[in-house]
Amino acid sequence: MSRITLKVNGTAHTVDVDPLTPLLYVLRNDLGLQGPRFGCGLGQCGACAVIINGVATRSCVTPCSNVRSEITTLEGLASNGTLHPVQQAWIDEQVPQCGFCQNGQIITAKVLLDKTPNPTDAQIREGMAGALCRCMTYYRVQAAVKRAAVTIKAGGAA
Ligand code: FES
Ligand code: FES
Repeated sequence: MSRITLKVNGTAHTVDVDPLTPLLYVLRNDLGLQGPRFGCGLGQCGACAVIINGVATRSCVTPCSNVRSEITTLEGLASNGTLHPVQQAWIDEQVPQCGFCQNGQIITAKVLLDKTPNPTDAQIREGMAGALCRCMTYYRVQAAVKRAAVTIKAGGAA
């Protein structure tokens, strides 16, 4: 066991864990952050995504001791009680079905829009390709990404 300090959503947390423990387990089990989901556990579906250094990172295959930079989870996207435009767009477009993959969809969309503020349909498909959805919400995901892009461009907090 090792004492490991992680900065998550602006707050530093020290945990006593095996250094190889997946970041996802620490976030969910030790820090109580239930946004990141356990989907495949194999780095294939994206349900466990968090943002590290501007990258949608699969926390199920990331040893917690490897993380040196701040982590942003789904819980960290809202600001002062206001949802991030991506989250609001997800509600407005009624994207989720079962909801299980949606953490990964929202985190991936946030990263996509940070890098490509006005994406084409092709860029959205490419940028979102790693976030799998067994309920086939892809068309609504695409609509929500476009809606969020318009909101952010109009001055909504990003
Ligand atoms: S749960 Fe991490 S990629 Fe599927
Ligand atoms: S909403 Fe069910 S897996 Fe995507």
